[in-house]
Amino acid sequence: FSPRVAYRNLQTSSTSHSRIPDFAFAFDIDGVLIRGAQRLPHAAQALTYLQRHSIPFILLTNGGGYDEEIRAEKLTEEIGVPLDPSMIVQSHTPFADMDEYKDGCTLVVGGEHDNCRLVAQNYGFTNVVTPSDIFRNHPELWPFSRPLAAYHHRTAHDTSHRIDVGNPATLKVDSIFVYNDPRDWGLDISLIVDCLLSQGGRVGTLSSKNGDAALPNRGYQQDGQPPLFFSNPDLWFAAEFATPRLGQGGFREALEGVWAAVTSEGTGLPPVKLQRTVIGKPHRETYLFAERKLNRYREATFGGHGRELPKLKNVYMVGDNPASDIMGAMNYKSPFGTTWSSALVRTGVYAGGEPAAAPSTTVDHVGDAVRWAVKDSG
Ligand code: G3P
Ligand code: MG
Repeated sequence: FSPRVAYRNLQTSSTSHSRIPDFAFAFDIDGVLIRGAQRLPHAAQALTYLQRHSIPFILLTNGGGYDEEIRAEKLTEEIGVPLDPSMIVQSHTPFADMDEYKDGCTLVVGGEHDNCRLVAQNYGFTNVVTPSDIFRNHPELWPFSRPLAAYHHRTAHDTSHRIDVGNPATLKVDSIFVYNDPRDWGLDISLIVDCLLSQGGRVGTLSSKNGDAALPNRGYQQDGQPPLFFSNPDLWFAAEFATPRLGQGGFREALEGVWAAVTSEGTGLPPVKLQRTVIGKPHRETYLFAERKLNRYREATFGGHGRELPKLKNVYMVGDNPASDIMGAMNYKSPFGTTWSSALVRTGVYAGGEPAAAPSTTVDHVGDAVRWAVKDSG
């Protein structure tokens, strides 16, 4: 199959689309359009074809680490197709709506340098602290990160006043948000566990229950400890290495393993389950957020002029990870009556065999997925 011939076929079939398309696409990024910094074959052709025929699409990723403006610029460069921030839903995009946490002190974990601090501030979080900030003032918090001191010092901010752990006047963590894949798992796990065992988010203290040596260290999360949010459940993701790499879900599993040990060791009691909230594909909220964005995008593109927009009948989710992209699309029930179908591609995490969730179709790459969907849309 030569993609050029296929696109010519698609173009003839698509010019009969005199009406506004009643279908759209949601593309996963890693393993579908790019792998690390490498553009995947057929990605640029597929998106260019859709843009040329005004078929709407969004990028729906469990990745992130930059705000949507910067990410759109980076992806335009990486994929070679002009992309707009309004078309991108990243793992942490929904954090922008969590107003109730924006005035407290937020520990923002993950990402390269202090990019995620900037994202959180752009979302309206007014008092952001990162693990690097705390490490820079207190390297003794996790002595094994000393070899990474230069990185943390470059990343740290606002060292005009020392962050005195245990001193609520300088540091009382009110919420913890993992925005992107952590770069220093040791420091970040230690710090999150410190917060969850602390008196009300005061790093370096132990909560009254945990502070009492007579009580087993059950790691209660009922003493004003900060709530914990993860933006991405992916255990694996497709990067440049030949086989998938551990994602943010891998980090969470490591933290949960430490938490289980910390809350049960020496007690003869079962571990305390870590209380946390995880968003991102395959969770329903992420697909609902994405569908609303697609509808707004169609409205902005085709709306106005008094024209009644045809209802969005079908959304085609193109992904490489059965446990996130496909499972989310197949389980999602749209409140707008839209049907979500899915195409699983062989260019990422999925390497054959029975997938964790059954897609509508399995194809070699994103070009085949677009060709299949345009035909399926009738
Ligand atoms: O960190 C990104 C990774 O978890 C997967 O991203 O684009 O395949 O949803 P994506
Ligand atoms: Mg992917």
